[in-house]
Amino acid sequence: MTAVDEIKARLDIVDIVSETVKLRHSGKNYTGFCPFHTNTKTPAFVVFPDSQTWRCFGQCNEGGDLFSFVMKREGWDFQETLRNLSDRAGVTLHEYTPEQQEKVEENEHLREVLSMAVTFFQHQLRNTPAGKEALDYLYSRKLTDETINDFALGYAPDSWDALTQYMTSRNISQQDLLDAGLVSERDSGGIYDKFRHRLIIPIRDARGQMAGFGGRVLRKDDIPKYLNSPKTALFDKGRLLYGLDMARREIRARDQVVIVEGYLDVIGPYQAGFKNCVSPMGTALTEDQFRLIKHYSRKIVLALDPDAAGEKATLRGLQTAREVMDREGDLVFDARGLMQVEGRLKADIRVTTLPDGLDPDEIVLEDPELWDKLVREAKPVVVHVMETLAAHADVDDPKTKEQIANQVLPLIEDVKGSVEREAYRQRLARILKVDERALVRQAPGGAARPRRRSYRQMPELSAAAPHLTSDHRQLEESCIKALVCDPTLVHFVDRTLRELELACLHQDDFSQTDFKELFKLVNGALEQDAEDPASYVRERVPEEMQEAFLIEADQNPYPDWRLQPNAPILESLLNAFLRLRRIRVDESLEQITFLQTQKAEEGEEDPAKDLGRLALEFIQARAKLDRALQLSNSQGKQ
Ligand code: UTP
Ligand code: MN
Repeated sequence: MTAVDEIKARLDIVDIVSETVKLRHSGKNYTGFCPFHTNTKTPAFVVFPDSQTWRCFGQCNEGGDLFSFVMKREGWDFQETLRNLSDRAGVTLHEYTPEQQEKVEENEHLREVLSMAVTFFQHQLRNTPAGKEALDYLYSRKLTDETINDFALGYAPDSWDALTQYMTSRNISQQDLLDAGLVSERDSGGIYDKFRHRLIIPIRDARGQMAGFGGRVLRKDDIPKYLNSPKTALFDKGRLLYGLDMARREIRARDQVVIVEGYLDVIGPYQAGFKNCVSPMGTALTEDQFRLIKHYSRKIVLALDPDAAGEKATLRGLQTAREVMDREGDLVFDARGLMQVEGRLKADIRVTTLPDGLDPDEIVLEDPELWDKLVREAKPVVVHVMETLAAHADVDDPKTKEQIANQVLPLIEDVKGSVEREAYRQRLARILKVDERALVRQAPGGAARPRRRSYRQMPELSAAAPHLTSDHRQLEESCIKALVCDPTLVHFVDRTLRELELACLHQDDFSQTDFKELFKLVNGALEQDAEDPASYVRERVPEEMQEAFLIEADQNPYPDWRLQPNAPILESLLNAFLRLRRIRVDESLEQITFLQTQKAEEGEEDPAKDLGRLALEFIQARAKLDRALQLSNSQGKQ
């Protein structure tokens, strides 16, 4: 049994849902108002104790298991949900080696040290005359006490050892202070407080655990304007985003994140109700940071000041733009890099240019609607580049046209989707007032994508797989195991699914959240080309699942399946996925029928208005699946 199985066995979804949703008994199931959308009159949210699942038949039309419910409710990712639920269920996730255990405890201790420092800085801000100056500065920037407390802002006094003394009197060692990045070492030995006479901004990781600090000057001439914690075991600027702990729930809810430039550009909009902003800490955005965000939403808006977004950055060679601008304080705009990240992560990255001289925190104060509009009107990276270039140039001049085309076309060619690519080409043609045919690329093969290695034709299908059992979770488990062993199997299954005019594999082919997570990983492996897909997955399978899912090479039930005649694994895998879909459809139909009967008995209106239509869709889907299954079985018998 995996940890996830064990947690599910110990916790009852009805209990967990009841913590926040008022449930009413209804037959063997429970109904209530869906917590995930604004509610109408009739409860369309159902919890099914038998299958330990939930589903909203109203606006969301979504459902899942215990894990997906808690993830959605709390805005957590899978890992965090697992940690939380395992605590509640009393399930041990993994045993650490003694060294690992030591590391974990050390980090835990460092976090405590940092939290003590937060308390110290907050006290200084609130209760000392010098702190009053910092507090007044915050008020002058129109921050309220509530916001100041929410973000735990503080003040570091103008002293070389105030913090050190406070901490040492509480038995914190010099080494701990050094390890936490709170003090610096003198050449002559000894230590001194790193942050002095600065406004203090605590920086936490996505889970809200302390990681480090940013400190803003209060005296105009002090440098640097912002001083950040040095790199420590907990603080790595390239892997953290400021404000993510506060913003992640809203990012999920809005399905959008806005990346701004600075600390106060996160805090200001937050106070104004725009709680989905995060910022890097004075460095270029890294792919790690995009991956971090992707847990919460793939829709990313970059809010750039005109300098960073503008002409200078785009007109310079992109590589040099990266080198020149990769310094503290600037959000780097590297169009090509962004496009690549967008493609690799299947993200939707857009850019909005802020009005000259105004930071987000000022905009939300002056004109919140304008902020809304700027974010709403953010443009895809390519469009942003072509429009910025054109806005600063004479597009009637033939040589300028050529120059702009030369800069934009390579970006267009990076775009994965052919329709999207074509749309950009048309747009560029319109902007440059040239015939679109002139923009079909000069560079030979420019638009050609690297082809996948071509494998042997998928063999005929054979009888149902002997090693797959009929039990639902087990069936899903064998499917995901096969994909974890060899992610490229997805390509083969997808190809056949397409031939059958069915949708390609999707995380929703799995009902279990842990399998969905693994499937995302498998997809991630196929989205990158730096590593072999199988080892990519192997490296990243969450620790708690490793034992169950990392099958030793010598026990791999699918060794070199490509070499086997007719590769039976492919047939059985496809068959298994078809059966899973069929089971899912039946289940949905059963649930809808339940809801219809129940509503009818109570004389209520159909809550989703069109449960009937929904049912019809499922009936059609079932027919289609049945045909595919028939085909799959009959071909198997040949
Ligand atoms: P800005 O100079 O744009 O400052 O730096 P800001 O955020 O608008 O701050 P206010 O509004 O003047 O108070 C943007 C971000 O770059 C990082 C910080 O994260 C800052 O918020 N930065 C800036 C540094 O890390 N070091 C610096 O010296 C300057
Ligand atoms: Mn600012």
